[in-house]
Amino acid sequence: MQKLTAAITAVGGYVPEYRLTNQVLETMVDTNDEWIRTRTGIDERRILKGEGLGSSDMAVEAIKEIFRKKNISPTDIDCVICATVTPDMVFPATANVICDKTGMTNAFSYDLGAACSGFLFALTTGTALIESGRYKKIIVVGVDKMSSIIDYSDRATCIIFGDGAGAVLLEPSDNGNGIKDSILRSDGSGRQFLHMKAGGSVKPATVDTVLAKEHYVYQEGQAVFKFAVKGMADVSYELMQRNNLTADDIAWLVPHQANLRIIDATASRMNLPKEKVMINIQKFGNTTAGTIPLCLWEWEKQLKKGDNIVLAAFGGGFTWGATLVKWAYDSN
Ligand code: UT7
Repeated sequence: MQKLTAAITAVGGYVPEYRLTNQVLETMVDTNDEWIRTRTGIDERRILKGEGLGSSDMAVEAIKEIFRKKNISPTDIDCVICATVTPDMVFPATANVICDKTGMTNAFSYDLGAACSGFLFALTTGTALIESGRYKKIIVVGVDKMSSIIDYSDRATCIIFGDGAGAVLLEPSDNGNGIKDSILRSDGSGRQFLHMKAGGSVKPATVDTVLAKEHYVYQEGQAVFKFAVKGMADVSYELMQRNNLTADDIAWLVPHQANLRIIDATASRMNLPKEKVMINIQKFGNTTAGTIPLCLWEWEKQLKKGDNIVLAAFGGGFTWGATLVKWAYDSN
């Protein structure tokens, strides 16, 4: 009998209605459509509007789609892992809120913070729980309302980020499909280049921190870019090597959508043609923990049972990683 694996058996996604286009950003900061498109690949991003709405509300929509597709009850879910850097509030966990809003009353749930790599870290963690044999249905959701921590007068960051959520259902499989391998890495010394200065225990929120705009994303773009290009490409290549895969064996690369140039560098290191790379950065921008599941959601119909798929990410921390998935189903 094959070893028990954790298979992705359904995908759900949600992006808010409102489109923040490059043209609108041109009216807000000193930037232009051409610069944004050539430097990042982004045309527009979605923004969650509305008083009292947060990351949990987008995650709920993505997860409800899974319930509908699989015709399962919220009470069937054993565990929910929510990857996010924009929780509804510092505590309790957004995952707890999501369970309450959807009626997943039998699930234990928690948040996981690994920034843009959060979905991969959560997927690997959920996989281990399934492989232990103790849990049968786990929801892994990547969600971020980046607009809640972006300074829309800072042209270096406001052009990149957007809001959105993607979720997958993990179930046990004994036919060899599912999450096959994962290489995850972190290096906290990279925090100086990408972080939020205040609002944590080191520097709690005060009137001064608010006035100094310290509750927004701080990023040294060029430094992060250099690490991201190397980190994401190296780890994806290493994953291929250790699983004896060539570019021909890989059906899709699903990269974190931070910058089209980082995606191109990773694909080129893996020797993959553009047609095998999922790219939706032009529509959604960088939704942090949401990017990878949102790609799976958009491409679901093109995925075939048995396809080898490489998921790859790089983000704040620094954190980075790559995961090999043998796709488990044909969607109708
Ligand atoms: O997802 C989590 C991890 N994050 C990432 O992976 C992001 C990695 N970094 C990046 O994607 C890129 O560094 C950015 C898109 C953030 C910036 O692109 P860049 O090519 O690294 O630009 P830069 O910061 O080197 O700036 C180049 C020039 C500068 O002008 P000077 O000094 O050459 O005159 C900037 O002031 O472009 C200027 N600039 C802009 N111009 C128009 C910076 N932002 C803008 C802008 N519009 N929005």
